[in-house]
Amino acid sequence: MYAGLRAPAAAHQQQVHLMELKTISIKPLTAAMGAEISGADLSAPLSPEMLGEIKAVLHEYLAIFFRDQHLTPEQHLALARQFGSLEVHPIVEGKGGYPEIVEIVKEAGEETQFGDAWHSDNSFMDCPSMGSILYAREIPPIGGDTIFANQYMAYDLLSDGMKKILDGMVCIHTAKQAYDPIRLAHKYRGETNMKYKYSEAVDKEVEHPVVRTHPETGRKSLFVNKMFTTRFKGMKPEESMPILEYLSQHAIRPEFQCRFQWTPNAVAFWDNRCTMHYAMNDYYAHRRVMHRVTVEGDRPY
Ligand code: SIN
Repeated sequence: MYAGLRAPAAAHQQQVHLMELKTISIKPLTAAMGAEISGADLSAPLSPEMLGEIKAVLHEYLAIFFRDQHLTPEQHLALARQFGSLEVHPIVEGKGGYPEIVEIVKEAGEETQFGDAWHSDNSFMDCPSMGSILYAREIPPIGGDTIFANQYMAYDLLSDGMKKILDGMVCIHTAKQAYDPIRLAHKYRGETNMKYKYSEAVDKEVEHPVVRTHPETGRKSLFVNKMFTTRFKGMKPEESMPILEYLSQHAIRPEFQCRFQWTPNAVAFWDNRCTMHYAMNDYYAHRRVMHRVTVEGDRPY
């Protein structure tokens, strides 16, 4: 069953040894994806050489991590702007005074956690987020990790028969369930730390290819997620469900994953075009506060 895993994983590992970095050092997290970067101070503007190397490592490892960064909200925004234009979330209210910063807060004793289902950020938008830069402001003593899954591998390891079926197919994405104005009415009423605003983005349905091509690497990745993908275009939800269920399970195989254990002031930067992630909700008695900035993406093709 796992025979197909050898080829792409080996190819990935080989490229790792070929990369020569001058301004930063990296430590890969798993064979699948993820690298911790040292030698960069993200609070200051990055030199063109370092920026180029960070982008190259992101393209190779898909999610990159930095420890012990000291960022004001302005520095967080300035960091993200070096990678593209920034988004204002169409549903979640930005942090006071900083519309582009989503403050992800879970209070001690709160049961729900933002992002605790596998997803690619904002895939319900016409042009889903390219990248997300998440900064740990307050973390629990244990738990609250973020898990990522490599969606190039998820595509590569489908059978040729399944690839043939999926190539050219389109899925419908919507924010409707994740931001349900009835179930989450208290957030729309402004009764919680994270406040939502109702807009047409909540109910809108958008179409995206099931298999997308990364505009920078040219590689194909699987682009469906349980949080926002509802059905295949031209099919009923009940007809779509078995295939979507299969793909959702396949896409998060442990062999495709890495897991980041947060430390105070750590930064994670992931590429939403070729990964999914999941925020662990396993620290009930503690508070966790993260700041997320998302960089605009293109229309998937
Ligand atoms: C997210 O889904 O963007 C948040 C991830 C996290 O809080 O770990």
